[in-house]
Amino acid sequence: MATVPSLAATVHQRVSDALSAALPEAASADPLLRRSDRADFQANGMLALAKQLKGNPRELAGKVTEALPANDEIASIEVSGPGFLNITVADEAIMDNLAARRQDPRLGVPYKDDPGTTVIDYSQPNVAKEMHVGHLRSTVIGDAVVQLLEHRGEKVIRRHHIGDWGTNFGMLIQYLIEHPHELDHASDTAGAKDAGEAAMARLNRLYKSSRALFDSDEAFKARARDRVPALQSGDPDTLALWHKIVDESKTYFQGVYDELDVEIRDTDIVGESAYNDALQEVVEELEESGVAVRSEGALCVFFEDVKGPDGTPTPLIVQKSNGGFGYAATDLAAIRNRVGELKADTLLYVVDARQSLHFRMVFETARRAGWLPEDTARQLPFGTVLGKDGKPFKTREGETVRLVDLLDEAVERAAAVVREKADDGVTEDEIRARAEQVGIGAVKYADLSNSMTRDYVFDLDRMVSLQGDTSVYLQYAYARVRSIFRKAGALRPVPHPELELAPAERALALHLDAFGDTLVTAADEYEPHKVTAYLYELATLYSRFFENCPVLKADTTEQAENRLFLCDLTAEVLHQGLALLGIRTPERL
Ligand code: ARG
Repeated sequence: MATVPSLAATVHQRVSDALSAALPEAASADPLLRRSDRADFQANGMLALAKQLKGNPRELAGKVTEALPANDEIASIEVSGPGFLNITVADEAIMDNLAARRQDPRLGVPYKDDPGTTVIDYSQPNVAKEMHVGHLRSTVIGDAVVQLLEHRGEKVIRRHHIGDWGTNFGMLIQYLIEHPHELDHASDTAGAKDAGEAAMARLNRLYKSSRALFDSDEAFKARARDRVPALQSGDPDTLALWHKIVDESKTYFQGVYDELDVEIRDTDIVGESAYNDALQEVVEELEESGVAVRSEGALCVFFEDVKGPDGTPTPLIVQKSNGGFGYAATDLAAIRNRVGELKADTLLYVVDARQSLHFRMVFETARRAGWLPEDTARQLPFGTVLGKDGKPFKTREGETVRLVDLLDEAVERAAAVVREKADDGVTEDEIRARAEQVGIGAVKYADLSNSMTRDYVFDLDRMVSLQGDTSVYLQYAYARVRSIFRKAGALRPVPHPELELAPAERALALHLDAFGDTLVTAADEYEPHKVTAYLYELATLYSRFFENCPVLKADTTEQAENRLFLCDLTAEVLHQGLALLGIRTPERL
């Protein structure tokens, strides 16, 4: 396993060295090298530098050019316009580099120099409730960030901070005590999805019946309220029923995860309840240190810059006036655990942007209390999923859209696309299998390709389209490559660096060169959408290459082998890139 630096990085280094040699007074200046349409790369750093040194940018650029020693990578360098450097790299260097990349199973993508431990909080649905599109986003984004970080060698600890605690459990448990057969059912033999749906149906029934009683029967309401302290203090019978409800929910969650094709491990589900025993200590410490103060009976933390519309400060409430602990106290206890016990260097929270104020206050409180070092915690906030009407995504009746229905529909639409493309004789089972990978991939891709903080419109028609920036387009590009290989006969993918490259080959090859750099930035900046953008561009360049450069019918065997090599590397990059985003690449579409 060997890291393969990109050719772009090598060229950058060469130009930087030449710049330091030519202008020792600007030794650390960045030449600002970019891919360019005019040449392979363009460096425009000389403009800012000239201003700084009060010189002429064209002259400076000329000096840098002269200071560049002959090397294998740069075929030509010239000064253009007001003082840009236009750089053309050698075909041979491009192909040599790609050949080295292909040798490595990781395609030469570097590990981090200084990996640490990241605890990431994502996919945190609530017990006894349906999952909604917000939970979908958190799951899909979180999963991609986990894969990207692990690929870089970071140690990642996953935490699914599910909503499994709180006063509403008093009502559910009390109802179960009085109606002990409510959750009974014949043993589920079906798959994860059906078992999950059946579990959710039972939970919905339990929720509706207990809510109805709670709202209509004062005596029941009182008994339900009394059940809360019994739960909090760990009364065994109460806890047993609580477990039963949590387990039903987990069955439901796993059904959704199964359909969504993400791995969520039971041991990583550490919900709000897990921090129950630490809450008392958390509030005591906060109160003793003066970080939190009593205000109208509640224990509060105040912030200079957090005020309501009328100018009165909005505090973070860590303990309510009735003594109850809330969402904030739990998050504070979780921080202490993640930093103190799990030894996290970085804490990530993949949570809806609408909770940003909550996290800002929680992080600041934890810092004041000395539990959280500066710059350790970070929310990765995501935008809202909208319906076609531009409002938060709901059913026509104004209810939350059930995730399973949504995913089923995505697979259904994908099946139509797949069926139309499929050759005669493809079985219905095969179509279903492909449709699942296409439909689920489309939902994930749409979610990831929109920049995280932006709201986006959930539009299945667009998501499963073969045209445009969709996973189907990428999967199709992959399948096309695979089909070439099925027809290649004895031809093998072999790089021939001595060959001159056609423009479409160069463009594709130089983009392939950027795979490692893209993954590094995407992982280190927590931006999966940089990967989708990169892969989309790759598929586009591939299709241009495919139109302009015959592969199996190339002029010579060497050229055919060289083009097959580019095909093969393209497929491998598509496959590895999409896999990191949780998206499959079927062999045929
Ligand atoms: N369960 C919450 C919800 O559905 C999300 C939890 C986010 N994580 C956290 N540590 N607060 O909105």
